[in-house]
Amino acid sequence: MTQRKIIIDTDPGQDDAVAILVALASPEDIDVLGITCVAGNVPLDLTTRNARIVCELAGKPEVRVFAGCDRPLGRDLVTAEHVHGKTGLDGPDLPEPTMAMADGHAVDFIIDSLRDHAPGTVTLCPLGPLTNIATALQKAPDIARRIAKIVLMGGGYFEGGNITPAAEFNIYVDPEAADIVFKCGAPIVVMPLDVTHKALVTKDRNDAFRDIGSPVGIAVAQMTEFFERFDKEKYGSDGAPLHDPCVIAYLIQPDLFQGRHINVEIETHSELTMGMTVADWWGVTDRAPNATFMNGIDADGFFDLLTARLARL
Ligand code: RIB
Ligand code: CA
Repeated sequence: MTQRKIIIDTDPGQDDAVAILVALASPEDIDVLGITCVAGNVPLDLTTRNARIVCELAGKPEVRVFAGCDRPLGRDLVTAEHVHGKTGLDGPDLPEPTMAMADGHAVDFIIDSLRDHAPGTVTLCPLGPLTNIATALQKAPDIARRIAKIVLMGGGYFEGGNITPAAEFNIYVDPEAADIVFKCGAPIVVMPLDVTHKALVTKDRNDAFRDIGSPVGIAVAQMTEFFERFDKEKYGSDGAPLHDPCVIAYLIQPDLFQGRHINVEIETHSELTMGMTVADWWGVTDRAPNATFMNGIDADGFFDLLTARLARL
């Protein structure tokens, strides 16, 4: 696998944290150009704090962390402290960050990175609401054709939603942004609830994280133990779905996943289904396919990969 240059756009969030850790543990596969933070699970001041906590936990204080948009394009921010806790990174007791934020706005970093690197060499990995990505596309439409791929966590079809019956959180928070991204023309790979709900952190899998025995392994086990109580109570599942690391695992080992290249459009008008990813899985429309929508995963292989990479830190 050749090394892929990526920008992680994120709203940490325990599952975002695991995704960031795995990416930083995989230099032979991934060159993290920077981490851009967005308001989502918790407000921006906390997502920027949490992203730096995770970089320092990984022993990578040199990673550039940028602050981005602090609210959606056209609606009030909806957060998810009920899932992630009041800090957004509840679970482990980790020290406050000492590394500085990078200068400049996240949106400008995204634009400049895409313009400074050859077309088709930078992959965007959104793990939260798509506000930063959409704002960059609005400000610099030329970047759309320079994006190698957008690999994002968001949406759901057979699984429905997790914040409303119809919508998944990342898309629901900023549906207008998601609409811009899904129509931008760049190649898109979607990790929706249909696949992430098959990536459950069972007790054995979480024990494997803890048994790494390092500060990273123990912290990840504590994060997922905190994070899972919401989903286990809601779905009666055997553990929490580890949503965002599916994005990074795809970059490293794409054959862990199966899906279809289909048309996906975003509901931006109906309050009842606001933020729904209308996935034409059965090809019943003549709408052009614009995204590879995943719904299968080798869950054991996924967790083996995560555990092996986290053990490197
Ligand atoms: O719906 C799950 C998504 O919303 C994940 O990215 C989680 O971190 C939250 O951002
Ligand atoms: Ca997230």
